[in-house]
Amino acid sequence: KKSIKDLDVQGKKVFCRVDFNVPMNDGTIADDTRIRAALPTIRHLVDQGAIVILASHMGRPKGNVVEELRLAPIAKKLEELVGKNVRYSKEVIGEDVKKQVSELEAGDILLLENVRFHPGEEKNDEELAKAFAELADIYVNDAFGTAHRAHVSTEGVAKHLPSAAGFLIEKELEVLGNALSDPARPFTAIIGGAKVKDKIGVIDNLLDKVDNLIIGGGLAFTFVKAQGYEIGDSLLEEDKIELAKTFMEKAASKGVKFLLPIDAIVADAFSEQANVKVVDIDSIPDGWLALDIGPKTAELYSNVIKDSKLVIWNGPMGVFEMEPFAQGTKAVAEALAEAENTYSIIGGGDSARAVEHFSLSEKMDHISTGGGASLEFMEGKDLPGIAALDE
Ligand code: 3PG
Repeated sequence: KKSIKDLDVQGKKVFCRVDFNVPMNDGTIADDTRIRAALPTIRHLVDQGAIVILASHMGRPKGNVVEELRLAPIAKKLEELVGKNVRYSKEVIGEDVKKQVSELEAGDILLLENVRFHPGEEKNDEELAKAFAELADIYVNDAFGTAHRAHVSTEGVAKHLPSAAGFLIEKELEVLGNALSDPARPFTAIIGGAKVKDKIGVIDNLLDKVDNLIIGGGLAFTFVKAQGYEIGDSLLEEDKIELAKTFMEKAASKGVKFLLPIDAIVADAFSEQANVKVVDIDSIPDGWLALDIGPKTAELYSNVIKDSKLVIWNGPMGVFEMEPFAQGTKAVAEALAEAENTYSIIGGGDSARAVEHFSLSEKMDHISTGGGASLEFMEGKDLPGIAALDE
C-alpha cells in the first residue's frame, strides 16, 4: 500500500480517518491510547505543512446525534497531546465544516464531529463519500481499529481521492502481517474469550500457521466437553462440539500442539462472592461452573509461552475482571512479560484490557489498537479500509 511518506502533502488538504473510539467515563477519556497511537501521523502531516481534517467515530450512535458521543473532549485532549490548537466542528459535514475548512492554513488541524452521527456513514453512502472527498485533496487512513468496517470514512471516500496508509496502519500491518506470513518459531497462539462462535475463523486460520495453539476462557469448555469430560454448568456451545473435535483433529494432522486446560477454577455461582475451588479437568462437579483455568494449566501455558519465539494472544483465560478468576489471565500476561526471547503480540480488545489491568502493557512488544480489526486480520480476511487504499 502507498505510505503517507510517499506523499507530498505541503499545502494540501488531507482528510485523515483516525480511530478515536476511546472509552469514556462521565465525559472524561478513560484511556487515551488510541489518540496517542495516531499522533505520529498527525504530527507528520502538521510538520509537512498539510491542512489536516480529522474524522473519527465514537461508540455506536447509529446515525443519530448523541450528546455524550460528541468529539469535543477528544479535540481538547488532542490539543494537549500535539501542543497546538485543534479546531472542532459540531457537525459531520455541512456549511460549518466547509467554512472552517476554508479558513484553515498549512499545519492547522480540524476535527469533525463523530462521523456515525451521520446516517450515511455506516451505509457507505456515495453522496457522503463525495461530500467528504470535496473537502480534501488526499485521503489518509490511519484508523486500524476500524479498518474492518466498509464505511464512508474508512472505505467509500478512498475511491474519490488519492490515498495512503498512515503510520499506525503501516505498523500494525507490518507486525501482524509478518507474524502470519513469516513467523519466528516456535510460534504460539493463545485464544481465549467467551465463545467458540467468535473465534472459529481465527482458530481455523491459525491452525495452518502455528506450532502451538493454547485455548482458554469460557470457550475452552466446549472443547473440554468434546474431549469427553463433564463440565457442570460451564459455558457450553452444544452446536460447536463437533467443530471443536474437527479442530483438534486438524491440529493433530498438522502436528500442531493443541493445549487445553488440565484443571480449572470452578465456582458455585457466577459471582465474586461465590464458593470457589480448584479441580482437575475430569472432576468438574455438577452444578459448578469453570470461570478460569487452574494453576497447573497456568504453569503449563506459561512454560509453552516462555519456550516460544513469537506469541499472539487474543482473549482472556478467565473472568479476569473478578478477582477470584483473574489468576489464569494474569499468569499468561506475566509469562509474556517475563519471556525475554519471545516477541509478544496482543490482539486488541479484551486481551489489551487484561494486560492493562495487570499493569503489564509496557512489557509487551506490540499491543494492537484493533479489537475486531486485528481478529479479522488474523482470520486471514481482507480489511476493507486497507484494501481501498492506493497500491
Ligand atoms: C473498535 O473499537 O473495535 C473500533 O473502533 C470499531 O468499532 P465498532 O465495532 O463499533 O465498529
